[in-house]
Amino acid sequence: MPRHTFTASPPLTGRLRVPGDKSISHRALMFAGLAIGESRITGLLEGEDVLATAAAMRQLGAQIERGADSTWTVHGVGVGSLLEPAGALDMGNSGTSTRLMMGLLASHDITATFTGDASLSGRPMNRVIEPLSQMGASFEASSGGTLPCMLRGASPAVPITYRLPVASAQVKSAVLLAGLNTPGITRVIEPVPTRDHTERMLRGFGAALEVGEEKGERIIAIHGEADLRPLDVIVPGDPSSAAFFIVAALLVPGSDLVIENVGLNPTRAGIVTVLRQMGGSIEELDPREVGGEPVADLRVRHSALSGVDVDPAIVPSMVDEFPVLFVAAAMAQGVTRTTGLEELRVKESDRLAAMAAALTLAGARVEEHENGLTIHGSGGDPFPGTAAGASVVTRLDHRIAMSMAVAGLVSRDGVGVDDTSPINTSFPTFMGLLNEAAR
Ligand code: S3P
Repeated sequence: MPRHTFTASPPLTGRLRVPGDKSISHRALMFAGLAIGESRITGLLEGEDVLATAAAMRQLGAQIERGADSTWTVHGVGVGSLLEPAGALDMGNSGTSTRLMMGLLASHDITATFTGDASLSGRPMNRVIEPLSQMGASFEASSGGTLPCMLRGASPAVPITYRLPVASAQVKSAVLLAGLNTPGITRVIEPVPTRDHTERMLRGFGAALEVGEEKGERIIAIHGEADLRPLDVIVPGDPSSAAFFIVAALLVPGSDLVIENVGLNPTRAGIVTVLRQMGGSIEELDPREVGGEPVADLRVRHSALSGVDVDPAIVPSMVDEFPVLFVAAAMAQGVTRTTGLEELRVKESDRLAAMAAALTLAGARVEEHENGLTIHGSGGDPFPGTAAGASVVTRLDHRIAMSMAVAGLVSRDGVGVDDTSPINTSFPTFMGLLNEAAR
């Protein structure tokens, strides 16, 4: 468990590039693994979560290779032709790998067991087990609907129309992916829009997919059984990884940093909107499209921030960015109130409890509520920091580790982080980029 103390930083300057988008990387490997023929993926995130997806797709029959130029080549097996894996599918820390693969396998006539680390083994799977069972798959989950979990797929599966009870792109995607190998039309009704990478990319791979709207709700329909054709995918930079550097540059006095190639899909970019509302200077340079997704370089300058009431309607478009937003709020002038965040309690950790505890230990004033945090900002004064030898607890959660790393950069005495290893799940170059930008 590598412990690290993050200390007051010189200004963050220059240009840096964050790794590929995690959500898009998972999907690129999975869909390419289902297409017949060769797909090439550039800019793939080579973090542990995505490597877990690659390993599982190989166990299911896809041929996946990394070239010396870090282009990944995938030879898919074809929809309906996934093989039964010889051993358990170890999903590590990755909820996205687990839930999306459960969808893929649910409409194949195979049996597979999913396992994961202590964090993933505590996360709720009933949210996908329920709709996939309606489609004909059966599950033997551990108590409370958790991993380890055995899945028995059904072929042919039954198409359903499923209204999402929680705003979750993972649940939406699981049902749509099961629909790929299900004869007929599988529909998902989305009362609140969530990230739409599955829809965008499935179309690119040739699936017949329609998106409509009825009474303010999105309706996504996929026609099965589908044939996917190979596609070359360019993965844009991950806005969720960029968020740590955006907030760091806003908070560290004197910073003027350009973060290149950041994906700005509107279903992901809520953090930029809220930080601007708080007074953050974030400029979009050279807006363009990469791999079917809007992208820009972001120039971020140190700014005095003010507290805000965050509109709960924006939550799905920044659901992973709240931990680092809380850090920004703790340095702002005035109070920041967040609500509608109950989903944060079932991420890699209970992020409301984890961040309330971590920020309090670092000297911030935080109140934890059932569905959000209220944060009393310091008006720009640095965090006092953790006492000598003390460290905040990351709970196997990469985003807690990186958020508190950012807090350390604007602290008086430094912030100790008990375990930085989870950072490798989503952002293996984080420490290196931080050292380069803060020179
Ligand atoms: C993801 C969806 C989100 C997000 C996760 C990645 C995805 O989860 O928190 O990091 O790639 O679909 P939920 O769909 O459970 O909100």
